[in-house]
Amino acid sequence: MLKKKVSEALNKHLNKEMYSANLYLSMSSFAGSIGFKGTANWFMVQYQEEMVHAMKFYNYINSHGEHVQMAAMAAPPATFKGLLDLFEQTLKHEMSITSALNDLLDLALTEKDHATNIFLQWFITEQIEEEENDRDIIGKLKLIGDNGQGLLMLDSELGTRVFVPPATAA
Ligand SMILES: [Fe+2]
Ligand SMILES: [Fe+2]
Repeated sequence: MLKKKVSEALNKHLNKEMYSANLYLSMSSFAGSIGFKGTANWFMVQYQEEMVHAMKFYNYINSHGEHVQMAAMAAPPATFKGLLDLFEQTLKHEMSITSALNDLLDLALTEKDHATNIFLQWFITEQIEEEENDRDIIGKLKLIGDNGQGLLMLDSELGTRVFVPPATAA
């Protein structure tokens, strides 16, 4: 059983994860358009991860006998200043997701919703990895600066990222 307040907040978060998916799809397309195919791959994998995040919320809401409400969402930006801008905006966005998840967990705790508390634990841990990945790449990009060879090497490293589907049904 989900309290109305909790179920509405979970639904709202599902839509935030859908926005994340859209944002990374847009970033993937942009990176490809400026010749960074590896970076485009990295964002495509990130898009797939976001769809997994959204579906976890979708399935969680449905498993309580409720249904989700998909919402209209703002269009993500379509153009960026370059690789550093892409990853700085990604980190900024993920930090806002982390804070939204923290608020959601606070709500689960005040509402004494133990199942939702347990459900959210996975996301709280996942956000550490999300932010760390972005910070690592931003650090490398700052070191590389305008060095073309460095950028190409980083791009080919980002091209090796592979989407790993969740072990259990999302
Ligand atoms: Fe996410
Ligand atoms: Fe992740």
